[in-house]
Amino acid sequence: MKQKMKIAIFASGSGSNFAAIEEACKKGELNAEIVLMVTNKPEAFVVERAEKASIPVAAILPKEFATKDAYEEAILHALRESGAEWLVLAGYMRLVGPVLLTAFPSHIVNIHPSLLPSFPGKDAVGQAVSHGVKVTGVTVHLVDEGMDTGQILAQCAVDVVDGDEDKTAEAIHAVEHGLYKDTLNKLFSQ
Ligand code: GAR
Repeated sequence: MKQKMKIAIFASGSGSNFAAIEEACKKGELNAEIVLMVTNKPEAFVVERAEKASIPVAAILPKEFATKDAYEEAILHALRESGAEWLVLAGYMRLVGPVLLTAFPSHIVNIHPSLLPSFPGKDAVGQAVSHGVKVTGVTVHLVDEGMDTGQILAQCAVDVVDGDEDKTAEAIHAVEHGLYKDTLNKLFSQ
């Protein structure tokens, strides 16, 4: 058995993907250990989830730094202390900048709620519903300097449910949790 991969999860929201990954690590379904949860939103529910799971939290506020580089240097310091080898973005609603991209080349992965390259950026589910598409989905991809443009690792289609954003988001979440776990497993076993 290979050593567990040390991962840092980046999240800004409710953290259902964080919870699914944490559970998979705990059950031994993912050969990884979450060594840090990084957030730019200290009030987000994901912080509560991390604390309950006894995962260290780095809540770092961009507005407290003069530049994006300085903000990411602060994150990098926490990451170095944690020993993280991979950065796993799970609803982290900020563009990753050069400091982190340079420090973790080809070791940052993201999940996005659409079939990229359709509907990049914020509110991907809302974009899909307002365009009237019947099928959208989930993409797991490596992160580069663009907005959801990195190498695609896995995709899964999800039907738009009744033209309704909330119902479709729920269906997408259900698919995300399994797809992220499976894709991370493949990545970490290479
Ligand atoms: C997920 O659907 C994820 O794909 C999306 O945010 C949601 C977070 O949910 N990410 C993006 O839109 C990134 N551009 P969660 O907080 O319940 O894991």
